[in-house]
Amino acid sequence: MSDEYKEMDEVPLEPGMGEEENGGYSKMDLPAGLLGGTPITQEMIFSKANEMMDQMLDIKELMLCYSAAIQEIRTKLSILNKEYEVRYQRNPINNIQSRLKSQVSIMQKLDKKGLLINRENIEENIYDIAGVRVICAYEDDIYRMAEALTKQADIELVRVKDYIKEPKPNGYRSLHLIVKVPVYFEETVKKVYAEIQIRTIAMDFWASLEHQLKYKKSNIENPEHLMQQLKQCSDMITLTDHYMMKIRKEMDGVQVEKNDVEQLMEKLKRFGVQLAEE
Ligand code: GTP
Ligand code: MG
Repeated sequence: MSDEYKEMDEVPLEPGMGEEENGGYSKMDLPAGLLGGTPITQEMIFSKANEMMDQMLDIKELMLCYSAAIQEIRTKLSILNKEYEVRYQRNPINNIQSRLKSQVSIMQKLDKKGLLINRENIEENIYDIAGVRVICAYEDDIYRMAEALTKQADIELVRVKDYIKEPKPNGYRSLHLIVKVPVYFEETVKKVYAEIQIRTIAMDFWASLEHQLKYKKSNIENPEHLMQQLKQCSDMITLTDHYMMKIRKEMDGVQVEKNDVEQLMEKLKRFGVQLAEE
């Protein structure tokens, strides 16, 4: 999947460590001896190593919070999807993917924002460490799921970016939510940020191809031509999404006449009872 988003239930705690030279820890303070002329003593090295280990353990603990936040959001969404299935015999969510931002990417983002690498800056300034991508069948399912999730008492809605009502100039469409989720530990409750991207299957199909183009752009002779074609695809996908939704809504309105036996059979089926003729 593009963008490291995965459909798995387990979220790895330490993705991407050491992907870069110096593991991305470019802004960490160094002992004065390393920079100036003072000779470096063994004590200084031990003390710095200890300090660095403390910081790394602190960040590892923090990553556990984000991993837990992902699991909580995934569970909430799965419950909503199941509820819908039982009530309406239809799944609004096609699949859920998630990813934990790598520690290297977190460092790079802080660096880009001109911020020092420390726990407080990570917690307060990076909103997308926990990332959940929800792929829905239809466009109205996107808003239905977003509303059902954000009206839950323990979810705090921080920011909405609606790239469906206002697509990006390149044609990108998705609903982005930044939320705060409580994570319950033995003695504390911690609220952490999470980014939720909700889109249709078609929007996701488009975004994964566009994502690939972003990476290959510099090696393509005429990327503008491909970008233009992608924009046209986005317009066609929008039309298709709208058409499909219209057809489904019309079908939703059709009442199928059923006799008593058929009604009972249908209820048994909803209970998960395997019927003989199937
Ligand atoms: P960052 O992009 O995370 O620095 O923050 P932001 O607040 O500017 O992000 P925004 O909500 O606009 O987008 C966040 C994420 O959405 C990105 O990291 C991508 O995963 C996805 N996204 C946004 N724009 C595009 C786009 O043009 N194409 C594709 N393929 N994905 C996009
Ligand atoms: Mg991001």
